Amino acid sequence: MLSKIVQLKEKYKEHLTILAHHYQAKEIVQLADFVGDSLELARIIPSLHSKYIIFAGVHFMAETTAVLARPNQHVFLPTPHASCVMANTAPSHLVEKILSELNQYQRVIPLAYVNSSAKVKAICAKYKGSVCTSANASQMLLWALSQGDAVLFLPDKNLGFNTAIKIGLTPKEISILKLNQKINIKNKKLILWPGLCAVHFKFKIDHIQKAKRKHPQAKIIVHPECSPEVVTTSDASGSTSFIINYVKSAPAKDIIYVGTEENLVKRLHDHYKPKKTILSLFPSYCSNMAKINLENLLTTLQNLETISPITLSNEICSMAQQTIQTMLKVCS
Ligand code: 13P
Ligand code: SF4
Repeated sequence: MLSKIVQLKEKYKEHLTILAHHYQAKEIVQLADFVGDSLELARIIPSLHSKYIIFAGVHFMAETTAVLARPNQHVFLPTPHASCVMANTAPSHLVEKILSELNQYQRVIPLAYVNSSAKVKAICAKYKGSVCTSANASQMLLWALSQGDAVLFLPDKNLGFNTAIKIGLTPKEISILKLNQKINIKNKKLILWPGLCAVHFKFKIDHIQKAKRKHPQAKIIVHPECSPEVVTTSDASGSTSFIINYVKSAPAKDIIYVGTEENLVKRLHDHYKPKKTILSLFPSYCSNMAKINLENLLTTLQNLETISPITLSNEICSMAQQTIQTMLKVCS
């Protein structure tokens, strides 16, 4: 399969780009033209000229690529089943309903993590909101707070809470939405959608304690989709690119436990051994990212001219585009 994929890549040359998120398995990463986190990959898309773009990641990422791609470019996700558990907690009809309720009495600005559908991003545009990634969440939350009376952050409550504390909000100013109860947001600056990441919620204080017992000198670094207790007990927290840079700039001989998706941790471990010891805080895999494999990548490549690319209505596409452009402008 590998050699057939390489042959097809050679056949399509500059007409094809394969993008992969850092959470993809090694065999997919080695075939990608660009590997990055959500922000890095979103930034690359406008500079791509290939007719075909294959996104090795989950559905919302391929949608974001389709939103940012040129009209003559076709974006493919090797399997439609690779969805994101967190994004699925925020269906567009529910987001729309909650936003219309929240905006009855005050101006509540939505800030959606890119881990959300294009339809949700479009709804955010309707309410003059924007999107963010884990790499720019602080900057975008400060921006959103300056645009209205309060902010609805969705879908990840952990990223929302951890970011809010980082920029100086107090827990009293934050409320977690209870979807089946009447909403009371009096004196609240930030309302959090109750979504979670299936990978990062698995990291617990116990894992940190165990790591510290084994290597008291070790540093612990985690992704901000982890729980607030895990984030505050760790030595540092940040986006995928932050974690990669942290490990890169750590002194030789350091021992670092990383709390994020296991494929990335394994690659960091292999890349830095024996100079630095990069260990997994707990092996946690994204089962949806893992749905991309050599088989469906090959099938996609063999049928590029006949299978359906990701399609979005013009309205959803241009509204979702608006929110992403706002993010890129605020963070330029
Ligand atoms: P980033 O790529 O923004 O760090 O997000 C992590 C993630 O969970 C992607 O699904
Ligand atoms: Fe969604 Fe978490 Fe998987 Fe990312 S790692 S795709 S946020 S479930």
